Amino acid sequence: MRKNIVAGNWKMNTTLDEGVELANDINTLLKGKKVNCDVIICVPFTHLTSVNAVIEPELIGLGAENCSEHDKGAYTGEVSASMVKSTGATHVILGHSERRQYFGENNEQLLAKTHQALTNGLKPIFCVGEVLEERENGTYNDVVKSQVEALFSLTPEEFSKIVIAYEPVWAIGTGKTATAEQAEDMHAHIRKVVEEKYGNEIAENTSILYGGSCKPSNAKEIFSKPNVDGGLIGGAALQADSFMGIIEAFD
Ligand code: PGA
Repeated sequence: MRKNIVAGNWKMNTTLDEGVELANDINTLLKGKKVNCDVIICVPFTHLTSVNAVIEPELIGLGAENCSEHDKGAYTGEVSASMVKSTGATHVILGHSERRQYFGENNEQLLAKTHQALTNGLKPIFCVGEVLEERENGTYNDVVKSQVEALFSLTPEEFSKIVIAYEPVWAIGTGKTATAEQAEDMHAHIRKVVEEKYGNEIAENTSILYGGSCKPSNAKEIFSKPNVDGGLIGGAALQADSFMGIIEAFD
């Protein structure tokens, strides 16, 4: 059966010292506690090695927030999937709406990045989600479907390693959350799209996380929905206690 996952996305926040302290605090809070989900923190590239040194892998998984679509070579400033993997990371966020919006990442590049991640043993947390206009004009189901379909050249074995994060862009960092019903409807839609391509078993085993202004006060209701398997958490992942509050929504 699919896993429940709470993943933090730190974005471009924290200095190295602050990040190590935050990771250490989360690790301390998790120690000796029985939690009912996997916990992952996705941190800036510069923090991966140092954060890996202070977290216990059986308590917290480690992820990057992006990786290059290229293997290696003359791509100044880029970070490859093999570099990410060599830090001890297990996951990588791909296709976050901020990458799509501000850095022009398109489906073709995201597929290439996904291949890089999978080839190097990283599990992609693949983000999809519509913008406000698409929510309002009613095209959101089609938009998200086509974002998921960007991965449909993957083999079933490859696709079974993907975690999907549904993040309506209008809910990210805005304090405006999708209702639990809106999240459930979209997650069920995504699962169906996956099922039509890869069959029931893979669809049922795919973890689909919700992201967008998720906090301790709303996580429980959203996570209670049958097709919502956890969250990708931005702002509320930057404080150990609020991140822990979201983890504990799975009780
Ligand atoms: P938010 O960000 O929780 O701050 O809305 C979520 C995300 O962008 O992953």
